[in-house]
Amino acid sequence: MNSIEENLSFKHQHLLGIKELSDKDVSKILDLSERYIEINREQQKKHDVLRGRTLILLFFENSTRTRTSFELAGKRMGADTINISVSSSAIKKGETLIDTAMTLNAMHPDLLVMRHPNAGAVNLLSHHIQGAVLNAGDGAHEHPTQALLDALTIRRHKGKIKDLIITICGDVMHSRVARSNLLLLKLMGAEVRLVSPPTLTPTGIETLGTKVYHNMEDGLKDADVIMMLRLQSERMQGSFVPSTREYFRFWGLDANKLASAKDDAMIMHPGPMNRGIEIDSEVADDITRSVILEQVEFGVAVRQACMELLASNLPPKGDKNGI
Ligand code: NCD
Repeated sequence: MNSIEENLSFKHQHLLGIKELSDKDVSKILDLSERYIEINREQQKKHDVLRGRTLILLFFENSTRTRTSFELAGKRMGADTINISVSSSAIKKGETLIDTAMTLNAMHPDLLVMRHPNAGAVNLLSHHIQGAVLNAGDGAHEHPTQALLDALTIRRHKGKIKDLIITICGDVMHSRVARSNLLLLKLMGAEVRLVSPPTLTPTGIETLGTKVYHNMEDGLKDADVIMMLRLQSERMQGSFVPSTREYFRFWGLDANKLASAKDDAMIMHPGPMNRGIEIDSEVADDITRSVILEQVEFGVAVRQACMELLASNLPPKGDKNGI
């Protein structure tokens, strides 16, 4: 497989957020991802689109899905993939992010994937890297590949994104998933609603073209897609909810609340799920409605597509420093 030449019109050095993408960019990524889904379902999944390229994964926050997904994506595409364990690296000795960036850049990585607890950290790093930087989540700011894989999952199930009613529910305040999805789904023409407790609603979020509801039944009325968010306690200083039991009663998705949505509404969750807090097991495991594991599957394909498109803008293989 070699589709690099076909993709030269993707004009970005980095993938830092959905904000910088056009609807054409998004469609291009999703179309290419479809091809990777097919390849990933074959026995022979490996190919050489990224052969000779070096991929570094740098995660300052815990991750199961996103990190494994990027690592698998890189390995299946033939890249030399290196996983930096932050807990055992010099970063723990007090090195600044910029020094880390310059050190890694000196080793000429072609692709660098980073997750960081602070909003803007990945952007900062990208100024010191000559290769392509991909944001795997920065604080409560953006998580572009998650939004892209969510969009792909929706498009495959509903055949479109435009004009769908998509309700994002839960801890919007601390969620980069909510922010990136809101930007992307609006860009592709969906009606995006947010449902969140008043204490977990960022002020001014309506200016992004969404409507905020403080009641699940109202926000879910006639929804085509329901996207549940994890209650992100690790990002909270102090308590934003009285108790998790009460949270589930008012904001947790269960069969009763689900009845307000369309009969064929899809249920999504980026993972990791807190069962019994934001989602009831009965709906999370309902194979007729829940697409949570498909999101994971399509995540690998989306990351492959993003890396192929970004690599197509890098200097040709073997052409660095005249080597
Ligand atoms: C999300 C994240 O890290 O932002 N998870 C993920 O990437 N699959 C959501 C979360 O942690 O709740």
